[in-house]
Amino acid sequence: MARKFFVGGNWKCNGTAEEVKKIVTVLNEAEVPSEDVVGKFFLKGGAFTGEISAEMLLNVGIPWVILGHSERRSLLNESNEFVGEKVGYALSLGLKVIACIGETLQQRESGSTMAVVAAQTKAIAAKVSYWDNVVLAYEPVWAIGTGKVATPVQAQEVHLELRKWLHDNVGAEVAATTRIIYGGSVTGANCKELAGQPDVDGFLVGGASLKPEFIDIIKSAT
Ligand code: G3H
Repeated sequence: MARKFFVGGNWKCNGTAEEVKKIVTVLNEAEVPSEDVVGKFFLKGGAFTGEISAEMLLNVGIPWVILGHSERRSLLNESNEFVGEKVGYALSLGLKVIACIGETLQQRESGSTMAVVAAQTKAIAAKVSYWDNVVLAYEPVWAIGTGKVATPVQAQEVHLELRKWLHDNVGAEVAATTRIIYGGSVTGANCKELAGQPDVDGFLVGGASLKPEFIDIIKSAT
């Protein structure tokens, strides 16, 4: 079964009412296929001021959640194991998960990219029994919000290795069907070439998802 191209927009903590209205109008006018709104959560509800629980997302009809984003790993010290726990918990409630992984510049330069993303993926995979509801997002930390996008060769190299990891550690079918999307300074200008890589199944877009060029990114598969 062919993997369906997947593009997620991550507005992070951005977007005034005016900006959101503008981009939603642009998206509606472009008539791009759209599915669901994506949320983020802490874990099960409780005394966690400022956080959102998985149950709250479901309660307001949000079916997709982004977990393991590097901003939470670095700013809030979310460990591989904690991210795995959240993935398992989200899936157990019926949420669909975009699970993020990715190396820092220092890790890349020291040659440990694959060891890092394999360890992150392992902690996630340990909590997944049903992969249909999981999309893996490879987001090199050095590419996020920096304008330094991974080259198509760099992205393809890691995506292929991740697919091999899934093949060897989870199974052939999961490896063949799981979407592995790329995130990190994706723009309307660089998306087409990245989307042309055989193991790049879509994008997780930050900054550009608030701009009209998001339409070009959504359409970059065709
Ligand atoms: O989740 C999205 C990523 O953090 C990418 O953000 O497109 O602004 O680099 P960016």
